[in-house]
Amino acid sequence: MAESHKVGVPSHGEYLRAMGIQQWLSRNRVPPVPAPAAPVETATGSGLPVPQTGDFDVSSLDWPDLEARVSTCERCALHATRNRTVFGSGDRSADWLVIGEAPGEDEDRQGEPFVGCAGQLLTAMLQAIGYRRDQVYITNILKCRPPRNRDPLPAEAACCRAYLERQIELVNPKLILAVGRIAAHHLLETDTAIGKLRGKVYHYGEDRIPLVVIYHPAYLLRSPQEKRKAWEDLQLAQRVVSGGGA
Ligand code: URA
Repeated sequence: MAESHKVGVPSHGEYLRAMGIQQWLSRNRVPPVPAPAAPVETATGSGLPVPQTGDFDVSSLDWPDLEARVSTCERCALHATRNRTVFGSGDRSADWLVIGEAPGEDEDRQGEPFVGCAGQLLTAMLQAIGYRRDQVYITNILKCRPPRNRDPLPAEAACCRAYLERQIELVNPKLILAVGRIAAHHLLETDTAIGKLRGKVYHYGEDRIPLVVIYHPAYLLRSPQEKRKAWEDLQLAQRVVSGGGA
């Protein structure tokens, strides 16, 4: 994203306030983000069996056709309980591609990702590093809400995988921000605890798109003491996007 797309650069204190980090924390120097503990790692795809129907190939669809295909998708049972599909929103040629887990109740009702309480915190977090939410592209691993917000099943994620892969190709971002454990596990093909995944830069797919893992805002709402780490991870991601590396 060009510098001119960014909203006015907030002061350090404004960053922290936007993230909901108590002001007393800002009296201390923000500790430098540690260099990646391990060399960058490569994620190559889900490895999950993707049900093939013969005519299911979205790899050449443009945005309107891809969105239309998702809106009528019946590849897994979630279509029966959804109100609306949640395709994604924001700048389709953004530098930042933000990938969460799955729509919740609010998203299922409105057809837009991250619009509930967790979404409002995510919006504040993005603002804290100088982006409005319409300046990044936001989507999820799943395009339909799992009942009672349970974790996505591997088969459901596999059914949605081709949509996400095509979105990644079309956005062609400078950075993927994997929001939360589920997104991180699916994108990195691991079950390593998110506390160990965060704080490093990975590379996704053949194009080796830099990928940073961050705590899910729903988790941060329950554990506000972890916001400091999320702030560090956002700064790490920002450095990657601006070419400063890790
Ligand atoms: N949580 C997510 O991971 N995605 C959403 O869209 C909303 C909540």
